[in-house]
Amino acid sequence: MMKKKRNLNLVIFFVLITCAAFAQKQTVVVIKTANTNLIYKTDKDGVLKQSYFGKQLADAEIENVQVTKLDAYPAFGKSYVNEPAFRAVHADGNLTTELVYVKHETRELAKDIVLTRIQLKDKFYDLSVYLCFKAYQKDNIIEQWSEIVHEEKKDVTLFNFASSQLALDESSYWLTEFYGDWASEMNMREQQLSEGIKVLESKLGVRSNQFGHACFLLGVNGPAKENDGTVIGGTLAWPGSWQLEFEVDQSKNLRVISGINPFASQYILKPKEIFKTPALLYTISNSGKGEITRRFHSWARQYGIYKGDRSRVTLLNNWEATYFSFDDKILKQIIGDAADMGFDLFLLDDGWFGNKYPRNDDTAGLGDWDVNKKKLPHGLDSLLKESENKKIKFGIWIEPEMVNPKSELYEKHPEWAITAPHRDLDPSRNQLILDLSNPKVQDHVFSVVDNLLTKYPAIAYLKWDCNRYITNIGSSYLPADKQSHLWIKYTEGLLSVFNRVRAKFPEVRMMLCSGGGGRIDYASMPFFDEYWISDNTDALDRIFIQWGTTYFFPPIGLASHVSVVPNHITQRTTPLKFRFDVAMSAKLGMDLQPKDMTKAEKDFSRNAIQVYNGIKHIIQNGDLYRLLSPYESKRVAMMYTLPDQKEALVFSYLLKKEIYGDDQTLYLKGLDPKKLYTLKEINKAVDKYSWFSALEGKKYTGEFLMTYGVRFPMYNEFESVVFQVIAD
Ligand code: DGJ
Repeated sequence: MMKKKRNLNLVIFFVLITCAAFAQKQTVVVIKTANTNLIYKTDKDGVLKQSYFGKQLADAEIENVQVTKLDAYPAFGKSYVNEPAFRAVHADGNLTTELVYVKHETRELAKDIVLTRIQLKDKFYDLSVYLCFKAYQKDNIIEQWSEIVHEEKKDVTLFNFASSQLALDESSYWLTEFYGDWASEMNMREQQLSEGIKVLESKLGVRSNQFGHACFLLGVNGPAKENDGTVIGGTLAWPGSWQLEFEVDQSKNLRVISGINPFASQYILKPKEIFKTPALLYTISNSGKGEITRRFHSWARQYGIYKGDRSRVTLLNNWEATYFSFDDKILKQIIGDAADMGFDLFLLDDGWFGNKYPRNDDTAGLGDWDVNKKKLPHGLDSLLKESENKKIKFGIWIEPEMVNPKSELYEKHPEWAITAPHRDLDPSRNQLILDLSNPKVQDHVFSVVDNLLTKYPAIAYLKWDCNRYITNIGSSYLPADKQSHLWIKYTEGLLSVFNRVRAKFPEVRMMLCSGGGGRIDYASMPFFDEYWISDNTDALDRIFIQWGTTYFFPPIGLASHVSVVPNHITQRTTPLKFRFDVAMSAKLGMDLQPKDMTKAEKDFSRNAIQVYNGIKHIIQNGDLYRLLSPYESKRVAMMYTLPDQKEALVFSYLLKKEIYGDDQTLYLKGLDPKKLYTLKEINKAVDKYSWFSALEGKKYTGEFLMTYGVRFPMYNEFESVVFQVIAD
């Protein structure tokens, strides 16, 4: 009995010694933003564990955070049986990796940005993974990526190389995904995650957002609500194939692994070469998903979209007006009408190039960027002159990454197209993709832009399109053992071309487009002023598309165009005012033949554009609050409030006839409770009674508008009301 007790004492003694030693050795890494903490701690084996992610804790209490079992960056090896963030085959054929903490450094990169780099290293092999974080203080956004490097004797093959793993130890998780297809982008669907793995991904390589965007919202312990509750939002900054995995394990832990889609993309890493993954941008909010939106928009205006502080231009695009059928005379007429209505810019779309193989439809000419002499015998110079005379800027469409097999470029360089040997060509929209893994092709694509903008310095705007994804993959540039690098090398090549273009042409405005919204991401957007989210310009559908888009991407760049009715894609007819009110809630443009408009329609448009010019600073710089969701009610409402709370703008739409009137209250948000505000309807319908008029010109406190709200009924299908909220 005595002996047993002595043994027990001995055990306790050793446990205490070990704990003391461990307590001394333990490393704590805190990634801090203004309101949040992401905390990592090492365990007794030196493995780094994600131990907390949430609202900021008092510094003194960080030591009370317990170490979890959730690896910061789990590697395949030892006892790990869940989906790994990292898997490699070492130079000697060993399939396993065991990463332990080595060191970390934290430094201020700029006033608002703190960089942390944590080195993890294999216990045996000379292979390190650096977990890198930029913590954007003010907006509470974390940008996380990984860098992998080794000094083994021979090449190491990477099979899994995640940007990040985020782990949570809560009781339930609700995932919202953003899915769709051409003309039906950014639909939102929420589901509770159950045990197992839910994978959101794209294997498309190019136009990789065609079926879904690399964005997610995660409601923690309940569905994500707009204005309260804990929600995490993230988006991967990568225009190539991507993957987001959500694994709930048997103990109800959630692991979110993000990164380049590893599918068929094993990467042979030479000694000392650094493999840098794209970044996941994410944030955690304790006041719902609306707060996530506002953080991303504010962050994007500073870091995520090109010149987020310059005012955007309104434009008229001739795509839906003419498609490929235009000539010099038609374009000059459109330029004249666009200028007359007050647009800032005319945008000439697809179809202006190709001579041996004229671009009269999508079957030929892509790749041959010489002006089509038959359609435009006086060249672009004449159109530019006309624009100058009419005091309107000029923009032009290009798709420089692509080629029609029926083109002079393809005749000269068939080896530049992505295609697998011994297989038939697999065109989509009659075109192939140029192999941007090849530096010569990168130079060529850059030169297409360079030549155009150098020859025509008056071109003020470029629409950069990309209308297909990769199939039949194969590169005649990459060696046989590196064919699997193509998805990654293409994307790196593309980003490098964007970079070169921007370095040489900093002032030109550029629109990111990909057969609609097939390429929207925060690796590309820093080079672009605006983005085209969908070819579907139907105002009703656009309400949904824009609703989803603005969770992560900022309205300042969200191009939204008024087009004809019946709409070309949906055949739906909606009033012109409704179409304007939807387009004006983002970045206003137009996509129709003005010559087919009545005088009254033109007058309405002229006035609407003028109104928009007076309020666009609120849309482009305001905080977005969603008041009534189209997913929940027939009446939709949203508002923008300027950060100084002096001006706000409310958009309200009725999507379906309500015989007895829809009188849902609009509880305004983001105002100063103490300020006095006047309400003023704008872009009013001509000759139609507005039920809002009872409130017109009255003064209310911010407190009243947020507590009692704004109350007026709406009756008719596609009725819309836009009003300003102006502080004294
Ligand atoms: C797809 C784009 O989304 C459209 O706006 C238009 O530019 C066409 N391509 C032109 O081919």
